[in-house]
Amino acid sequence: MAGGTGLVTLQPEAGQRITLVETLQPEAGHRATLVDTLQPESGHRVTPLMDAITALSFVIEAKDPYTRGHSEEVSWWAAKIARQVGLSDVEIEDIKLAAVVHDIGKIHVPEDVLHKPSLLTAEEFEKIKSHAAWGAKILETLKQKSIARIVRHHHERYDGQGYPDHLMGEEIPLGARIVAVAESFHCMVRGSSYKCARTVAEALAELRSCSGTQLDPRVVTALRDWLEIHGDATRVQ
Ligand SMILES: [Fe+2]
Repeated sequence: MAGGTGLVTLQPEAGQRITLVETLQPEAGHRATLVDTLQPESGHRVTPLMDAITALSFVIEAKDPYTRGHSEEVSWWAAKIARQVGLSDVEIEDIKLAAVVHDIGKIHVPEDVLHKPSLLTAEEFEKIKSHAAWGAKILETLKQKSIARIVRHHHERYDGQGYPDHLMGEEIPLGARIVAVAESFHCMVRGSSYKCARTVAEALAELRSCSGTQLDPRVVTALRDWLEIHGDATRVQ
C-alpha cells in the first residue's frame, strides 16, 4: 500500500472508536438506511425483488436484534469491494441484495441457540451452521439465482474448511467471498457486547492474517485498495 496514508487518515482521534455509523458513510455523512443501501447501481429502482429483500431483512432483524443495521452495512461494504474488484452493475446489485439477507436462514435456528451466551455444544453449532443452507433454500425461488448461491456459500473458507459444502478457492462464488470479507471487516470495526471494536487498521491487519486461509486474498486486497483510495473521504471528523 503506497505510503499507507489512506489508512492513517482512518485512525480515530484519541478516545474515539471508529464506527461505520459515524465515519464510514462517505456519500451522506450519516448512517445508511436500508433503502439507501439498496439503491441500485444503475440508478433505477429494482422491484419487486427489492421489496421482497427488504421484507425478508425485517424478518431476520426481528429474530436476531444483533443483525439490526449489520446486514445493510455489510451490504454497503460488499458493494464497495465488488466495485473495486471490477464487477458489473448487475453483479454488484445481486451481491448487495444477497448481503442484506445473508443470514436470513437464522429464522430456522431456535432462539435459545441463536442467543445462547455460553459455549455452544457441537449439536447447537450444527444448528447455527445450518443457517447458510436454509437461507439459500428460502431464496432459491428468486429469479436471480446468484443471490441464493451467495447466501449458501457465505461461510465457506478459501482453504476449503468452511461450510456447508467445503468449497475451496475459486469454487466459492466470488460474491460469497466478497460478503465474507465485508462481514468480517464490519464485525471487527463494529465490535460486539463481548468484543471491543477495532480500528480500521487493526481490522485490516486481521483480514490480511486470514488471507489465503479463511478469506480470498484478492478480495482482501480490494478492500485494502478501496480504503487506500477513499481514506480521505471516510476519515473521522
Ligand atoms: Fe452467516
